[in-house]
Amino acid sequence: MSNNINYSRRQFLQHSMLGTAAAAFPGLLLAADSGKITRTATPGFTADVEIEFVAQAAQVNIFSSGPATQVQKFIAALRKGPSNTLTQLPGNYLGPILTFQQGQKVRVFFNNKLKEPSIIHWHGLHVPQHSDGHPMYSINTGEQFVYEFEVLNRAGTSFYHSHSHDLTAEQVYRGLAGLIVVNDSDEAKLELPGGEYDLPFVIQDRSFDSQNQLQYLHAMPERIMGFLGSDILVNGKPNAEFAVKSRAYRFRAANGSNSRIYKLGWEDGTPLTAIGTDAGLLAKPETRPYIMLAPGERVDLWLDFSGRKVGSQLMLYSLPFSGVMPGMYDRMHGDGRGMGMMHNRLPQGGKFPIAVFKISEKVSESPKLPEKLVPFLQLTERDVDNAANPLPIAISMQHMKPLLNGKSFAMDRVMDFEKVALGSIKKIKIFHDRDSAGQHAGGMGMMGGMQHGNNEHDGESGDHKMGGMGMGGMGGGMMMEMAHPIHLHGQQYQILSRSTAKVKPKDYATVKDGFIDSGWKDTVLVMPGETVEIVKPFQDYKGLFLYHCHNLEHEDLGMMRQFYIG
Ligand code: C2O
Ligand code: CU
Ligand code: CU
Repeated sequence: MSNNINYSRRQFLQHSMLGTAAAAFPGLLLAADSGKITRTATPGFTADVEIEFVAQAAQVNIFSSGPATQVQKFIAALRKGPSNTLTQLPGNYLGPILTFQQGQKVRVFFNNKLKEPSIIHWHGLHVPQHSDGHPMYSINTGEQFVYEFEVLNRAGTSFYHSHSHDLTAEQVYRGLAGLIVVNDSDEAKLELPGGEYDLPFVIQDRSFDSQNQLQYLHAMPERIMGFLGSDILVNGKPNAEFAVKSRAYRFRAANGSNSRIYKLGWEDGTPLTAIGTDAGLLAKPETRPYIMLAPGERVDLWLDFSGRKVGSQLMLYSLPFSGVMPGMYDRMHGDGRGMGMMHNRLPQGGKFPIAVFKISEKVSESPKLPEKLVPFLQLTERDVDNAANPLPIAISMQHMKPLLNGKSFAMDRVMDFEKVALGSIKKIKIFHDRDSAGQHAGGMGMMGGMQHGNNEHDGESGDHKMGGMGMGGMGGGMMMEMAHPIHLHGQQYQILSRSTAKVKPKDYATVKDGFIDSGWKDTVLVMPGETVEIVKPFQDYKGLFLYHCHNLEHEDLGMMRQFYIG
């Protein structure tokens, strides 16, 4: 792998930053011996479930012929707990599916046997800072980190993956990811399709050389646009095929791609029904002509093959859409020819098949789609304490670097307005910072209005430039504007509004019917020109919780910041 040169520098940076972080946030960090933070088991924490995890190099047969593929893989063994906790996927680069029950106490022993740092993040689970896989907890070869958390989440689908800063994109690409299923008693009452009728559907794109080896490109065009592979894999396999009975299924779709966005739709125009979004069941099913799924997002699909003839088949596609990439991109790829290194056999927004479903057996019984699923509190403006001063998440691009709130990620940095009171519910406004001057003024007012006890923690509070000057802010910024899936760690949020006054209507029309905004979310696709307002509770746990673009190349380029909940 081509990252070696930077390890020692990165290690040095991590450790020296951790020293600063430990000083800035005393009590938050655990054992800070020699600047190293690894975590051991807490005697008072009685785990219902104990899992031993290893990240290591492995070889798997992704293709039915030719050489095995060198990957990085999470391997797990159950030490304690119900035997259905781990569903192993033999011969797969994906880690086992983890099945948790709400209320379970979970302890994970994570052992790093890679030749590079790593740490696991449980994307979608609401867990304490020490068990959230913040990159400051990255461990080196041979080290162990112990996670301990209670499963507070409602029933839903989540996704674990490596989260070591600078290495996230490539490690996820090489295999370090897996699905998480949470069950609870409300869900059980619904008698949704279970067992063999409840299936994972992890969608990823990869590129392979002629020897079946993964190719990952570090060149700037790929990094700034996001890496796009030329083969589509479902559950770790190309040319995915599912033999299904003529009845209803639950498919837990997760977009585990680095930067590819999917527009899921049936070849014959049959609408798609969703019963859950990121980490939670909806209050009622939503049926759409197609469903958008950006990196990091999940959607639980109700796919009903009732009435379909044995021997028939149905193709699930990613349907064409436009406007998510910077200006030139769609024009260059529109005719399928493309130019130079930006060309990809499967351009972002192109049409391609994802999986085929073959009706293999007729059955007379099928569960019926419930009219109502699991009700939950709908959060509104009235629930927040900052309706007039939303916390900003400003998206901008400066000198070929995608930024949030005008900044790059720094392990030990929190700006004043990134400090949030524990227990509060906030409105957050995610927007493209086109006009840095205007946003700057607004931002300053808001920041001034935040209550914060002291300033000593934020080395950056004097420097609030958002978007930046000249090329970076205006011309360059707008030309480079693209869609970003914005993910917030910690508790799920709800989407309050989308303001589309500045979007390009023709492009927006190709995606808008595919957004499911009625459920709990932790990742939301923000289109160029779009402003999305969300309501997010900051409850239960103090500490540092990341927010970032889930285009993993962008994340590694520093399009990540953090809230300090205190
Ligand atoms: Cu799935 Cu911080 O990420
Ligand atoms: Cu996450
Ligand atoms: Cu991004």
